[in-house]
Amino acid sequence: MRRKLVVGNWKMNGSLAVNAALLEALTTAVGTPAAASAVCVPAPYLGQCQAALTGSTIGWGAQDVSSHGGGAYTGEVAATMLVDFACTYVIVGHSERRAMHGESSELVAAKAQAALSAGLTPIVCVGETLAEREAGQTFAVVGEQLGAVLALLSEAEAARIVLAYEPVWAIGTGQTATAAMAQEVHAQLRAQLTQKQAGGVQILYGGSMKPDNARELMAQTDIDGGLIGGASLKAGDFLAIIGAAS
Ligand code: PGA
Repeated sequence: MRRKLVVGNWKMNGSLAVNAALLEALTTAVGTPAAASAVCVPAPYLGQCQAALTGSTIGWGAQDVSSHGGGAYTGEVAATMLVDFACTYVIVGHSERRAMHGESSELVAAKAQAALSAGLTPIVCVGETLAEREAGQTFAVVGEQLGAVLALLSEAEAARIVLAYEPVWAIGTGQTATAAMAQEVHAQLRAQLTQKQAGGVQILYGGSMKPDNARELMAQTDIDGGLIGGASLKAGDFLAIIGAAS
C-alpha cells in the first residue's frame, strides 16, 4: 500500500503576514495524520516555512528549480539552494510553466534530474489541454511528457520521483476530472512507470481538488494523493483534504 501524499501548491500567492496566519493554522491543527503532506511555496518564503514547519508533520518545497547547478543564470534557483532551506520537494513541469514559460518535456526532465541529484523529490507534472482531450490525444500527450523524464533518468532515479496528473482544463476552473476519468489516466501512467521498474511511485491528482471531491478521487486504485492549488490557501480546506487522504 502506497502512503498517500497531499501537497499544496501556493503558486504566486502569499505575503509574510498571510503565510504566518496560514502556517500557524496548519501546524496547530494538523497533528499526525496517516497521509504525508507538504506545501510548495514561492522561493522567498522557504525560510519562513522552514522556521514555521520544522517539528510539524508538514514538509515544504519549491515550485520550480533550475536545470543548472549554479553560475550565470540570472533569476534561477539551484537545487542545492533549496536543500539549504531543508526542502523535501520541488514541483517541476507544472502546466503553467510549460504554457507560459515555454518549458519543454526535455527541460522538465533535466530539472527533475537536477532535483534528484541534490537529494530532492521532484513532483513531475503532466497533463493534457481540453483541446488535446477532445481530440483523443490524452494518453499520447501525458505519455510523451512522462516518457521524456523516464528517458533521462536511471531506474533508481525514476523510482524516487512523485508524479502528478493535472488535466490543464481542470486547474483553477472548478471543473474536476471524474474519479473514473482520472483513474484511467493514472493507470496508464502507472503502467509506463512499471516499464521503468518504477511502478511504486506515488501518482497525485491535481485540478480543482476540494474537500468535497478529494475522498472519492483518492479512493481510486492508482490515485495516491493530491496536488492542491486554490484549496491549499485555506487552512480548513487543506486540512480537510489531508484528512480525506488518511
Ligand atoms: P487548483 O490547482 O487546485 O487550483 O486547480 C492545482 C495546481 O495547479 O497544482
